[in-house]
Amino acid sequence: MLSAASAAVVRATLPVVRAHAVDITAHFYPSMFAAHPDLLHLFNQGNQADGRQRVALASAVVAFAEHLLGDAPGGGFDMVAERIAHKHVSLGIRADQYPVVGRHLLASVAAVLGDAVTPAVAAAWDEVYWLLACRLIAAEARLYQRAGVEPTALWRRWRVAKRLDEAVDTVSFTLIPDRDDAIPDFTPGQYVSVAVDLPDGRRQPRQYSLSQGPGRGSMRITVRRVRGTAATPDGMVSTHLHNHLAEDDSLLVGPPAGETTLVPATSPVLLISAGIGITPMAAMLDHLARTQPTRPVVAAHADRSPAHHALRADCAHALAGLTHSDCLTWYESGQHNDSRPGRMDPGILPLTPDTTAYLCGPVPFMRDVRSSLLRRGLPAERLRYEVFGPGMLDQHTG
Ligand SMILES: Cc1cc2nc3c(=O)[nH]c(=O)nc-3n(C[C@H](O)[C@H](O)[C@H](O)COP(=O)(O)OP(=O)(O)OC[C@H]3O[C@@H](n4cnc5c(N)ncnc54)[C@H](O)[C@@H]3O)c2cc1C
Ligand code: HEM
Repeated sequence: MLSAASAAVVRATLPVVRAHAVDITAHFYPSMFAAHPDLLHLFNQGNQADGRQRVALASAVVAFAEHLLGDAPGGGFDMVAERIAHKHVSLGIRADQYPVVGRHLLASVAAVLGDAVTPAVAAAWDEVYWLLACRLIAAEARLYQRAGVEPTALWRRWRVAKRLDEAVDTVSFTLIPDRDDAIPDFTPGQYVSVAVDLPDGRRQPRQYSLSQGPGRGSMRITVRRVRGTAATPDGMVSTHLHNHLAEDDSLLVGPPAGETTLVPATSPVLLISAGIGITPMAAMLDHLARTQPTRPVVAAHADRSPAHHALRADCAHALAGLTHSDCLTWYESGQHNDSRPGRMDPGILPLTPDTTAYLCGPVPFMRDVRSSLLRRGLPAERLRYEVFGPGMLDQHTG
């Protein structure tokens, strides 16, 4: 809990910190990387370039301050903290790195807000930072313990047992441990971080959802190549994996992590995806077909065309193994067999009073579907979603 003296200062300064939060985090990252260039290989440089990690960090700190002051709706921050802890654990973030981040973050508060940061203001925000840090460190320690991994020895070498072209610009890699290591337990919906050494010497991590359920003696990821445009470069890691990762090659992989997982129950499941957002849904479908074949499941997917629709055959196979299932598909390219033309119409997605919905795809798509389902009465706690980037849906303005 925040001390009474700090609470008063944080309440008084929260509006100015909130207004400058993104400027503070924009100052923070370059200054931390200048002092600790070794950290560059831990942070996704794509997210640095487009500013999304900046917004995610700023939003998390402000949301935590609001939570401490009792200004935020109850329970909201738990989801944010859980998401951050899982992401940190997938990357091997350690407790001893928190002082470094804290020092640079508070120095950036002082640099951006200038004279407004009196010693009392600095002390109050230091207290906020450390309350948040302690909470994350504790959550991460629990996750490391549960996974049986040490953050210092997190990355393991896996071998590509199979590489398969799935759809336009989309390849699956089936991974098995390089040595006699056991395959870790995971829950459908989870992801792994992979780290690649790029030709320019940089190491870069990225997350990929596991696209098959557990219990298959392997883990599979399915990667869509991110193509550049006139204004943006090709994606670093997806391009590297597509161009260079062949069968029998090895890959550094972290432990499965992620909190957007299939809830064990018997109630109806609605899986909604677009584009490469199908990957966690494919794992859930695979798992449901093998472990709960009588559970009611609807899979709804939108894609550009049948040629872009990855994992279609796997999902059809899993759906055929479910006794109460339905499949709804939309293609922007037009009607194809029993699909619908155009974009997904969330208004026709079937909802029952006890449906749990899982959502993954581009942010604007997820925002549309989510607001439609909430309007139709689905409680927010029964709508679980995965964002393929930093932050949660509420933090994305684009
Ligand atoms: C939990 C989670 C699960 C995921 N699951 C999957 C999955 O199953 N399958 C999958 O394919 N992806 C998945 N992703 C996305 C994946 O992690 C990567 O983000 C994706 O592969 C792109 O990485 P990249 O290195 O190729 O692109 P990056 O190099 O990171 O680039 C990303 C974007 O930023 C732009 N950019 C980069 N640098 C600049 C610059 N200087 N100026 C302007 N723009 C720039 C690029 O043009 C590109 O559009 C997941 C992400 C998360 C967080
Ligand atoms: C209180 C302290 C911290 C807060 C509030 C915080 C917050 C966040 C948030 C909000 C994200 C984005 C999560 C998501 O994907 O949605 C994130 C990711 C990340 N954090 Fe932290 N973090 C903290 C400490 C640290 C520390 C000590 C390190 C280690 C140097 C670290 C390294 C990372 C990395 C590498 C990522 C992934 C970045 C990316 O992929 O772009 N964080 N953190």
